[in-house]
Amino acid sequence: MTQDEMKQAVAQAAVDYIKPRLGQDSIVGVGTGSTANCFIDALAEIKHLFEAAVASSDATAERLKGHGIQVYDLNSVNELEVYVDGADEFDPRLHLVKGGGGALTREKIVAAVAKEFVCIVDSSKQVDLLGAFPLPVEVIPMARSQVARALVKMDGMPVWREGFVTDNGNCILDVYDLEILDPKQLEAELNNIVGVVTNGLFAQRGADLILMGTEQGVETLKY
Ligand code: 5RP
Repeated sequence: MTQDEMKQAVAQAAVDYIKPRLGQDSIVGVGTGSTANCFIDALAEIKHLFEAAVASSDATAERLKGHGIQVYDLNSVNELEVYVDGADEFDPRLHLVKGGGGALTREKIVAAVAKEFVCIVDSSKQVDLLGAFPLPVEVIPMARSQVARALVKMDGMPVWREGFVTDNGNCILDVYDLEILDPKQLEAELNNIVGVVTNGLFAQRGADLILMGTEQGVETLKY
Protein backbone atom coordinates (compact mmCIF):
# COMPACT_ATOMS: atom_id res chain seq x y z
CA MET A 1 0.00 0.00 0.00
CA THR A 2 1.25 3.49 -0.77
CA GLN A 3 1.10 6.24 1.88
CA ASP A 4 -1.89 7.74 0.04
CA GLU A 5 -3.71 4.42 0.06
CA MET A 6 -3.02 4.10 3.79
CA LYS A 7 -4.53 7.55 4.36
CA GLN A 8 -7.63 6.58 2.41
CA ALA A 9 -7.90 3.29 4.30
CA VAL A 10 -7.76 4.98 7.73
CA ALA A 11 -10.20 7.64 6.58
CA GLN A 12 -12.70 4.96 5.59
CA ALA A 13 -12.00 3.08 8.85
CA ALA A 14 -12.80 6.27 10.77
CA VAL A 15 -16.11 6.65 8.94
CA ASP A 16 -16.96 3.00 9.68
CA TYR A 17 -16.04 3.58 13.34
CA ILE A 18 -18.14 6.71 13.86
CA LYS A 19 -21.15 5.66 11.76
CA PRO A 20 -22.96 3.66 14.51
CA ARG A 21 -22.33 6.51 16.98
CA LEU A 22 -24.05 9.17 14.89
CA GLY A 23 -27.65 10.36 15.12
CA GLN A 24 -29.59 12.96 13.14
CA ASP A 25 -28.58 15.66 15.66
CA SER A 26 -24.89 14.67 15.93
CA ILE A 27 -22.15 17.17 15.16
CA VAL A 28 -18.79 15.87 13.95
CA GLY A 29 -15.52 17.71 14.63
CA VAL A 30 -13.19 17.60 11.65
CA GLY A 31 -9.40 18.11 11.59
CA THR A 32 -7.00 19.52 9.06
CA GLY A 33 -4.38 18.05 6.72
CA SER A 34 -4.07 15.49 3.95
CA THR A 35 -5.37 12.58 6.05
CA ALA A 36 -8.25 14.69 7.36
CA ASN A 37 -9.03 15.60 3.73
CA CYS A 38 -9.40 11.89 2.91
CA PHE A 39 -11.72 11.63 5.93
CA ILE A 40 -13.85 14.55 4.70
CA ASP A 41 -14.24 12.89 1.30
CA ALA A 42 -15.31 9.61 2.94
CA LEU A 43 -17.57 11.45 5.43
CA ALA A 44 -19.50 12.98 2.53
CA GLU A 45 -20.87 9.51 1.72
CA ILE A 46 -22.73 9.42 5.06
CA LYS A 47 -23.70 13.10 5.31
CA HIS A 48 -27.38 12.14 5.61
CA LEU A 49 -26.62 10.43 8.96
CA PHE A 50 -25.60 13.52 10.98
CA GLU A 51 -26.58 17.15 11.35
CA ALA A 52 -23.41 19.13 10.70
CA ALA A 53 -19.67 19.46 11.24
CA VAL A 54 -17.38 21.86 13.07
CA ALA A 55 -14.14 22.61 11.21
CA SER A 56 -10.66 23.10 12.69
CA SER A 57 -9.54 25.41 9.86
CA ASP A 58 -10.83 27.55 7.02
CA ALA A 59 -9.50 25.00 4.51
CA THR A 60 -11.43 22.19 6.18
CA ALA A 61 -14.59 24.31 6.32
CA GLU A 62 -14.31 24.95 2.57
CA ARG A 63 -13.83 21.27 1.77
CA LEU A 64 -16.77 20.25 3.96
CA LYS A 65 -19.02 22.84 2.35
CA GLY A 66 -17.85 21.70 -1.08
CA HIS A 67 -19.33 18.30 -0.26
CA GLY A 68 -22.61 19.88 0.87
CA ILE A 69 -21.91 19.25 4.57
CA GLN A 70 -23.22 21.99 6.87
CA VAL A 71 -20.52 23.70 8.94
CA TYR A 72 -21.40 25.17 12.33
CA ASP A 73 -19.51 27.71 14.39
CA LEU A 74 -18.19 25.98 17.52
CA ASN A 75 -19.87 28.62 19.69
CA SER A 76 -23.29 27.39 18.60
CA VAL A 77 -22.55 23.81 19.67
CA ASN A 78 -22.57 22.30 23.17
CA GLU A 79 -20.89 19.02 22.42
CA LEU A 80 -19.32 17.14 19.55
CA GLU A 81 -19.96 13.43 19.22
CA VAL A 82 -16.46 12.83 17.92
CA TYR A 83 -13.41 14.65 16.59
CA VAL A 84 -11.41 13.05 13.78
CA ASP A 85 -7.99 14.38 12.83
CA GLY A 86 -4.49 13.39 11.73
CA ALA A 87 -1.19 13.91 13.55
CA ASP A 88 2.49 14.43 12.84
CA GLU A 89 3.64 11.99 15.55
CA PHE A 90 2.07 9.81 18.22
CA ASP A 91 3.61 7.90 21.12
CA PRO A 92 2.49 4.67 22.88
CA ARG A 93 0.31 6.68 25.32
CA LEU A 94 -1.47 8.34 22.37
CA HIS A 95 0.07 11.74 23.08
CA LEU A 96 0.41 13.63 19.81
CA VAL A 97 2.45 16.26 18.05
CA LYS A 98 0.25 18.25 15.69
CA GLY A 99 0.39 21.49 13.75
CA GLY A 100 2.43 20.56 10.71
CA GLY A 101 -0.33 22.25 8.73
CA GLY A 102 -0.46 25.17 11.17
CA ALA A 103 -4.01 24.57 12.42
CA LEU A 104 -3.00 23.44 15.92
CA THR A 105 -4.90 26.03 17.96
CA ARG A 106 -8.31 25.45 16.40
CA GLU A 107 -7.61 21.71 16.35
CA LYS A 108 -6.93 21.75 20.08
CA ILE A 109 -10.06 23.77 20.78
CA VAL A 110 -12.31 21.50 18.72
CA ALA A 111 -10.72 18.37 20.24
CA ALA A 112 -11.43 19.76 23.73
CA VAL A 113 -15.17 19.87 23.02
CA ALA A 114 -15.40 16.35 21.60
CA LYS A 115 -16.58 13.32 23.56
CA GLU A 116 -14.06 11.18 21.68
CA PHE A 117 -10.91 11.99 19.68
CA VAL A 118 -10.17 9.53 16.89
CA CYS A 119 -6.74 10.10 15.36
CA ILE A 120 -6.06 8.81 11.85
CA VAL A 121 -2.46 8.27 10.73
CA ASP A 122 -0.24 6.16 8.57
CA SER A 123 2.48 4.11 10.24
CA SER A 124 5.21 6.71 9.53
CA LYS A 125 3.75 8.78 12.41
CA GLN A 126 4.40 6.17 15.13
CA VAL A 127 7.31 6.94 17.51
CA ASP A 128 8.50 5.78 20.94
CA LEU A 129 9.41 9.31 22.03
CA LEU A 130 7.88 12.51 20.62
CA GLY A 131 10.18 15.21 19.27
CA ALA A 132 11.79 14.11 16.02
CA PHE A 133 9.12 16.20 14.26
CA PRO A 134 9.74 19.89 15.12
CA LEU A 135 7.11 21.06 17.58
CA PRO A 136 4.88 23.84 16.16
CA VAL A 137 4.12 26.72 18.51
CA GLU A 138 1.58 29.38 17.52
CA VAL A 139 2.68 32.83 18.63
CA ILE A 140 1.21 36.35 18.66
CA PRO A 141 3.30 38.14 15.96
CA MET A 142 4.69 40.90 18.23
CA ALA A 143 5.93 38.25 20.70
CA ARG A 144 7.83 36.17 18.13
CA SER A 145 11.38 37.09 19.24
CA GLN A 146 10.53 37.05 22.94
CA VAL A 147 9.01 33.57 22.65
CA ALA A 148 11.95 32.37 20.53
CA ARG A 149 14.39 33.47 23.27
CA ALA A 150 12.36 31.64 25.92
CA LEU A 151 12.37 28.49 23.76
CA VAL A 152 16.16 28.67 23.37
CA LYS A 153 16.43 28.85 27.19
CA MET A 154 14.45 25.58 27.24
CA ASP A 155 17.13 24.06 24.95
CA GLY A 156 14.91 24.17 21.87
CA MET A 157 15.89 25.51 18.47
CA PRO A 158 12.98 27.61 17.16
CA VAL A 159 12.66 28.30 13.45
CA TRP A 160 10.17 30.88 12.24
CA ARG A 161 7.81 29.46 9.57
CA GLU A 162 8.37 32.56 7.48
CA GLY A 163 5.53 33.73 5.25
CA PHE A 164 2.99 31.51 7.00
CA VAL A 165 0.04 33.13 8.79
CA THR A 166 -2.41 31.00 10.78
CA ASP A 167 -6.19 31.28 10.40
CA ASN A 168 -6.01 33.33 13.63
CA GLY A 169 -3.55 35.84 12.13
CA ASN A 170 -0.55 34.58 14.10
CA CYS A 171 2.84 33.09 13.28
CA ILE A 172 4.37 29.66 13.90
CA LEU A 173 7.72 28.76 15.42
CA ASP A 174 8.80 25.18 14.66
CA VAL A 175 10.94 24.03 17.57
CA TYR A 176 13.69 21.50 16.90
CA ASP A 177 15.73 19.50 19.42
CA LEU A 178 13.26 19.55 22.32
CA GLU A 179 13.59 16.59 24.64
CA ILE A 180 9.97 15.57 25.19
CA LEU A 181 10.26 13.21 28.15
CA ASP A 182 7.12 14.46 29.91
CA PRO A 183 4.70 15.68 27.20
CA LYS A 184 1.98 16.87 29.61
CA GLN A 185 4.44 18.93 31.64
CA LEU A 186 6.09 20.43 28.57
CA GLU A 187 2.71 21.26 27.04
CA ALA A 188 1.83 23.28 30.15
CA GLU A 189 5.27 24.95 30.36
CA LEU A 190 5.17 26.08 26.74
CA ASN A 191 1.67 27.47 27.13
CA ASN A 192 2.95 29.53 30.07
CA ILE A 193 5.35 31.55 27.92
CA VAL A 194 3.83 34.99 27.43
CA GLY A 195 2.89 35.41 23.77
CA VAL A 196 2.30 31.72 23.07
CA VAL A 197 -1.22 31.01 21.85
CA THR A 198 -0.84 27.27 22.01
CA ASN A 199 1.61 24.52 21.17
CA GLY A 200 1.33 21.36 19.12
CA LEU A 201 1.62 18.91 22.00
CA PHE A 202 -1.69 17.13 22.48
CA ALA A 203 -0.93 15.33 25.73
CA GLN A 204 -3.34 16.75 28.29
CA ARG A 205 -6.05 15.85 25.79
CA GLY A 206 -4.48 13.19 23.61
CA ALA A 207 -6.25 10.81 21.27
CA ASP A 208 -8.69 8.24 22.66
CA LEU A 209 -8.17 5.95 19.73
CA ILE A 210 -5.69 5.73 16.88
CA LEU A 211 -6.49 4.17 13.54
CA MET A 212 -3.14 3.49 11.90
CA GLY A 213 -2.71 2.52 8.27
CA THR A 214 -0.02 -0.13 7.72
CA GLU A 215 1.08 -2.29 4.80
CA GLN A 216 -1.12 -5.06 6.22
CA GLY A 217 -4.24 -2.94 6.80
CA VAL A 218 -5.66 -0.66 9.49
CA GLU A 219 -4.64 -1.25 13.12
CA THR A 220 -6.65 0.09 16.08
CA LEU A 221 -4.57 1.34 19.00
CA LYS A 222 -5.76 2.30 22.49
CA TYR A 223 -3.95 3.07 25.73
C1 5RP B 1 -2.45 20.20 10.84
C2 5RP B 1 -2.17 18.94 11.57
C3 5RP B 1 -2.26 17.67 10.79
O1 5RP B 1 -3.16 16.82 11.44
C4 5RP B 1 -0.91 17.03 10.73
O2 5RP B 1 0.01 17.96 10.21
C5 5RP B 1 -0.93 15.77 9.88
O3 5RP B 1 -1.17 16.11 8.56
P1 5RP B 1 -1.20 15.04 7.40
O4 5RP B 1 -2.42 14.22 7.60
O5 5RP B 1 -1.23 15.86 6.14
O6 5RP B 1 0.06 14.21 7.50
O7 5RP B 1 -1.90 18.91 12.73
O8 5RP B 1 -2.26 21.32 11.67
